[in-house]
Amino acid sequence: MLSGKNIVVGVTGGIAAYKAADVVSRLKKQGANVYVIMTEHSTKFVQPLTFQSISQNYVVTDMFEDPKTWDVEHISLAKRADLFLIVPATANIIGKVANGIADDMLTTTLMATLAPVYFALAMNTKMYENRIMQSNVKKLTDYGYQMILPESGRLACGDVGAGKLANPELIVQTVIDHFARPKPLSGKRILITAGPTREAIDPVRYITNHSSGKMGYAIAEKAVSQGAQVTLISGPTQLTPPVGVHYIPVVSTKDMFDAVMENLDVDVIIKAAAPADYKVVNYSSEKIKKNDAVMSMDFEKNPDILKRVGELKKHQILVGFAAETQNVEAYAKKKLIEKNLDFIVANDVTVKNAGFDVDTNIVTIYDKNGKTDAYDCMEKSEVALIILDKVAQKLQEK
Ligand code: PMT
Repeated sequence: MLSGKNIVVGVTGGIAAYKAADVVSRLKKQGANVYVIMTEHSTKFVQPLTFQSISQNYVVTDMFEDPKTWDVEHISLAKRADLFLIVPATANIIGKVANGIADDMLTTTLMATLAPVYFALAMNTKMYENRIMQSNVKKLTDYGYQMILPESGRLACGDVGAGKLANPELIVQTVIDHFARPKPLSGKRILITAGPTREAIDPVRYITNHSSGKMGYAIAEKAVSQGAQVTLISGPTQLTPPVGVHYIPVVSTKDMFDAVMENLDVDVIIKAAAPADYKVVNYSSEKIKKNDAVMSMDFEKNPDILKRVGELKKHQILVGFAAETQNVEAYAKKKLIEKNLDFIVANDVTVKNAGFDVDTNIVTIYDKNGKTDAYDCMEKSEVALIILDKVAQKLQEK
């Protein structure tokens, strides 16, 4: 069932490290190519030779040793992996990855990979329940990392509670389920824009809007999990790009325009960003002094990125958003036609729990074929799934 899949198993230093040998053996029996990276601590519990014998591949332990083969160099494993499985995942590895620490072979490889990563958690109950640990788990989950939660039971330290490594059979089943999950966007290239843009007034000030990037990032994350190759072009936000996306940060609308134009060779383009429509005419290279009681400024129009893409598009499915405060239907339908879109996602940004900087949205989708679908309030991740379902349908119809 895992025939030909390249799975990198990271073994970290916990008593459950010996169970990782069973996991590797089961993965091999399913036909996977397994590459094991051990942390230094884990080698105190199990010998690398054990994993080498079972995986039939050289086991990497030390970042600085002479490579036995260049194929095991960390960037090469990071690229080759179809999936990473960290088993057992201790509080230490969770803390390191959650905080961007890359100081050994396993953490540098994890930092460099775009493959999905599963952590099979195992640790003492008190460590597991520790709020720092729980907040690190949440942080990683928000980034798109997957957790295989520990079971409750009697732990090696004598404590009773949650923290016991999940059954190896269940861990391997999770990996099998991952690959068995339908991936309707497999192989499709999707360009997504998200967040606001900023237009500088002087070196210390800019104009922008309330977009947090949550809507666009949710679409990017779900698209990756459905097998798409995702490029995310984003204005400045507080969010971390989902694992697995090719991320291009931009600042101004002109930057976003240029980045989009350079990345048009895709199957689908979804424009969830809120680019500033205007920029100041005369940028002041010095800080503007507050001398006058009233100050005025001239603005000029920024390029309309979506409109330009609509003019240039060939085979691409093009999805736009409409952020409105009144006449939502009329304005959204106008944009649908004027910008040559396949469908448009309209949201009234004055409504509670919809639009800017909230985790939920209330949208109506207008299709170029005249179909209208109105949805109740739901998480932006659910809105993302609805949008991607429609995209998958459109791709199928082609
Ligand atoms: O980021 P969040 O906090 O999660 O908020 C989500 C959102 C409200 C930003 C999102 O749901 C949304 O509505 N995005 C579109 C915002 C917007 O700019 O809407 P608009 O109606 O002004 O623009 C219409 C379309 O043209 C949009 O797809 C927009 O990306 C695009 N556009 C707009 C201006 C411009 N210069 N170039 C563009 O491509």
